[in-house]
Amino acid sequence: MECRKRVLERIEVNGDVITIREACDEDKDALVRFYESLRTETIYTRFFTIIKYFQPYVERILSKSRSVIVVAETSDGRIVGVAEAVADDGDAESGIAVLEAYQGKGIGKALARAIVRLAAEKGLKRLYGYIMTGNYRAYRLARKFGAKVVENYGDMLLMEIPINLERKD
Ligand SMILES: CC(C)(COP(=O)(O)OP(=O)(O)OC[C@H]1O[C@@H](n2cnc3c(N)ncnc32)[C@H](O)[C@@H]1OP(=O)(O)O)[C@@H](O)C(=O)NCCC(=O)NCCS
Repeated sequence: MECRKRVLERIEVNGDVITIREACDEDKDALVRFYESLRTETIYTRFFTIIKYFQPYVERILSKSRSVIVVAETSDGRIVGVAEAVADDGDAESGIAVLEAYQGKGIGKALARAIVRLAAEKGLKRLYGYIMTGNYRAYRLARKFGAKVVENYGDMLLMEIPINLERKD
C-alpha cells in the first residue's frame, strides 16, 4: 500500500496529544493489537460479527491497492482509533472504531474528517458504510459529514458519505 504516514491533525485528549495520521504496512502489528484489544460489544457494532483474531483482516485491508487507513495514536505510540476506506476501485467501504476509554472525546470526528480528505485526494468516487440501526453515535457522526441513508435493511443502514473535496493529485 502506497503510504507516507502523513499527519493530518493533532488533538488534545485526556491530557495527551493524539496524532491523526495515515497508516502504513509497518503498522500491521499495532493495528492487530488495536482491534484485538476492543471489547466484544465494540467489535460487534463495528463488524456485525464477533472476530477474535484480526491478523487476516488487517492483512487484507493493507493489501488493497486503493485503501485509505487512518489511525489515532497516543504520544507513546499506541493506536486508540482507526478509520478505513477499503477499496479496489473507486467505491470504498468505510468503517471506524475508537477504543472505549477514548470515545466521546472528538477522535471519531477527527478520524472521519481525515478519511474523507484522503479519499478525496486518492480520487475515490464513493464512500459508503454500514451502521446498525440504533447505533445513534455512529449515525450522528456520519450525518455530521453529510452522509445519507441509501438503503434501509431493517437492522442495518447503508449510508453514503459525500466526497466533496477537490482532488489535489
Ligand atoms: C462511533 C464511534 C467511532 C465514534 O467515535 P467517538 O470518538 O466516540 O466520537 P466523537 O467523540 O468524535 O463524537 C462524534 C460525534 O458522535 C456523536 N456522539 C459522540 N458521543 C456520543 C454519545 N455519548 N451519545 C450520542 N452521540 C455521541 C456526536 O454527534 C458527536 O459529535 P459532537 O461531539 O459534535 O456532538 C465510536 O463510538 C465507536 O468506536 N463505536 C463502536 C464502533 C462503531 O459503532 N463504529 C461505527 C460503525 S462502522
